[in-house]
Amino acid sequence: MKLGIIGGGMMGEAILSGILSSSFLKKENILVSESLEDRRKYLTEKYEIEVVSDNVYTVNSCEYILLAIKPQNFKEVLQEISPHIKSHHVIISIAAGIPISLISKYTKEARSIIRVMPNLPCTVNKGAIAITYSEAKEEDIKFTKSLFETIGKVWILPEKYFDTVTALTGSGPAFVALILQGFTLSGVKGGIPYDISREMVIQLFEGVLEYIKSKNLTFEDIIRMTSSPAGTTIMGLEVLYNEGIIGIIMNAITSSKNRGSEITNEIKEGLL
Ligand SMILES: NC(=O)c1ccc[n+]([C@@H]2O[C@H](COP(=O)([O-])OP(=O)(O)OC[C@H]3O[C@@H](n4cnc5c(N)ncnc54)[C@H](OP(=O)(O)O)[C@@H]3O)[C@@H](O)[C@H]2O)c1
Repeated sequence: MKLGIIGGGMMGEAILSGILSSSFLKKENILVSESLEDRRKYLTEKYEIEVVSDNVYTVNSCEYILLAIKPQNFKEVLQEISPHIKSHHVIISIAAGIPISLISKYTKEARSIIRVMPNLPCTVNKGAIAITYSEAKEEDIKFTKSLFETIGKVWILPEKYFDTVTALTGSGPAFVALILQGFTLSGVKGGIPYDISREMVIQLFEGVLEYIKSKNLTFEDIIRMTSSPAGTTIMGLEVLYNEGIIGIIMNAITSSKNRGSEITNEIKEGLL
């Protein structure tokens, strides 16, 4: 069995690095196909694996084909590899917005087609990863799940949730970063130097998450535990409730999800 990763960019590298550091696959069982010469050189030197420029060679040499190219390069790659997809192939796509129905138009012969939504923290093995499939062999779903467990936590979900997942965990890192920035600037406003405020905010978020997880607390537990009567926390909470922070976050994620559906339709028009 051999895994071919088409597209050795940020996500392709994160997956490659996770697989190698967890010993999920041996180096000789992985082949990367990448169009940029500099990237090929970098990946070969850093990971000591075979990196080629020929996608067809990759398809012909591998059983599992992981598509890690940008959605805008998807059509050219699918058209290129389509005639070479056989019944022993498993197609795994991480492209945002490209549904299984569309991938299968180009990869009809494949044994299984699996769609995955990773996110940026996969690069530090802390990804929130969703997997979906319509018709796929049990062993291929298991393989894909184990592969992505090398870079994060994996949930198997119906494809109808994928636009929401893309907004929630795919775009989520940007929303979380914005909130962290708001906290950091509040520290600066109070006179704390930026770098110290930033470090304190990161420690605050890490600490709260660890506390919730280790004690199995609800979010409401934390709110109650920090809100002493007529104290400082309740005054701040009142402002957040009045300004509608929960509604703002929900609107942001809905807007992101709607854009995801729009992009899927645009991609469909281009790919059909
Ligand atoms: N980044 C994220 O947070 C994230 C989250 C979830 C899902 N994804 C999905 O992951 C996929 C990859 O994203 P990324 O951020 O890793 O993008 P990226 O860094 O741009 O990586 C894509 C790589 O594929 C190469 N490539 C382009 N055309 C190719 C071809 N015909 N044959 C072989 N290689 C080719 C690109 O080279 P060039 O630079 O020459 O084009 C680039 O090195 C996307 O479909 C995206 O939707 C990304």
